[in-house]
Amino acid sequence: MFASKVGAILAAAGSAVGLGNVWRFPTETGEHGGAAFILIYVLFMLLLGVPIMVTEFAIGRHGGKDVSDAFEKMSGGKKGWRWMGLIPVVSGFLVLSYYAVVAGWTLYYAFEALVNGFVGKTAEQFKDDFNTFSSDSLHPVFWTTLIIALTCGIVALGVQRGIERGSKIMMPLLFLFILVLVGCSLSLPNAHLGLQFLFQPDFSKVDSSVILSAMGQAFFSLSVGLGCLCTYACYFRKDVDLMKDGLSVAGIDTLVALLSGLIIFPAVYSIPGLSPDAGPSLVFVTLPNVFQQVFGSMPWLAYVFSLVFYLLLVMAALTSSISMLEMSAAYFHNSFRLPRPFAAVLVSVVCVVLSMFCSWSFGDWSDVKILGMNFFDLFDFLVAKFIMPIGGMLMCVFLGWVVDKQVLRAELTNNGTIRSPLYPLYRFIIRYFAPICILLIFANELGWGK
Ligand code: PHE
Repeated sequence: MFASKVGAILAAAGSAVGLGNVWRFPTETGEHGGAAFILIYVLFMLLLGVPIMVTEFAIGRHGGKDVSDAFEKMSGGKKGWRWMGLIPVVSGFLVLSYYAVVAGWTLYYAFEALVNGFVGKTAEQFKDDFNTFSSDSLHPVFWTTLIIALTCGIVALGVQRGIERGSKIMMPLLFLFILVLVGCSLSLPNAHLGLQFLFQPDFSKVDSSVILSAMGQAFFSLSVGLGCLCTYACYFRKDVDLMKDGLSVAGIDTLVALLSGLIIFPAVYSIPGLSPDAGPSLVFVTLPNVFQQVFGSMPWLAYVFSLVFYLLLVMAALTSSISMLEMSAAYFHNSFRLPRPFAAVLVSVVCVVLSMFCSWSFGDWSDVKILGMNFFDLFDFLVAKFIMPIGGMLMCVFLGWVVDKQVLRAELTNNGTIRSPLYPLYRFIIRYFAPICILLIFANELGWGK
């Protein structure tokens, strides 16, 4: 059980705020044309992300010790719904296995920044170094294993001593780092071009793939649809205001994503010739180059800026990967009565093996394709564009149509002790809007009706 209400919010925010905000968001925004993408993404956050998050909270908190239990209890004892508890277990493995690869890169870059390894490098060298590093068979695997081991250590410590305490320390630090970096970035030459890219929409770039990507990004960034927040909500106290918490977490998450945009895009535009659509390498190739070039005359500033930036990435990644590992570990801990540390190690070992496949997607195994995708892209596709929307939809249908209305209302109003003015809107969204909207987007993507 989380000891405090703040602890619960910070842990959920820790799960939400992660590489999804600081790495995936700028990448997706850059590739999909900037402001118009952001607008659609924010709409999805509000209309789908937050309601699904509240849905996960309600199911988790109402229930028992884990997600399967929670579904059974909330359905009024229907055993069939226990199967929903397997979604977080499977997703936990999938998502951590590829997330940890990028998290491992951030750890390596933080180390490089610490030992001043970026100094004096040219743009070409940054690119070559990144390619050499990420395509190596062993080097990135080492860092990925290290980040999974760190995650495992924290999860093994338990909910209060590990997850809650870790989030309470890391989240405020993260915020501080972000603010410092935004300040620095906005003072760079041509920062206004970055702002334009972020805030001036060009709707001609919007097509159906942009819409699916914006939805995927909203879900990914909020960690919804996989049952991750449902897992955390099992540890929420009964006096937590679920609706308010959902809105706070989504607010923090969106803010951090936008602030990361404010760090990254002004920086990218500060050097002519760099492009915001550099893709996944944006924060590993483009940015260290920017730090060196822009602050070249003040090496100490380049050093501090790089170090703070990569430490920020590591912390953001860590608080999220903790929640991923917890999804699967909690299941083995509860259902098979394995001691928590043992369950955490078990899941970690499997994830290390799977993460190798994802890591090798950038090197030796780049030609190994399933459904036309390498392992890394396949895992990302399965999680963000498939399980998350479908899982989210199922949870909405469950809460909107299967669960007794009185039970739902009691859960959201803490048994009538708090007011919940948004309840009617929320219920409408989970019963009608969310399921239909997700289905339509899917149908469109699959080419139906064309
Ligand atoms: N929301 C996290 C991020 O933005 C990623 C995440 C996805 C965490 C799914 C948990 C579950 O980085």
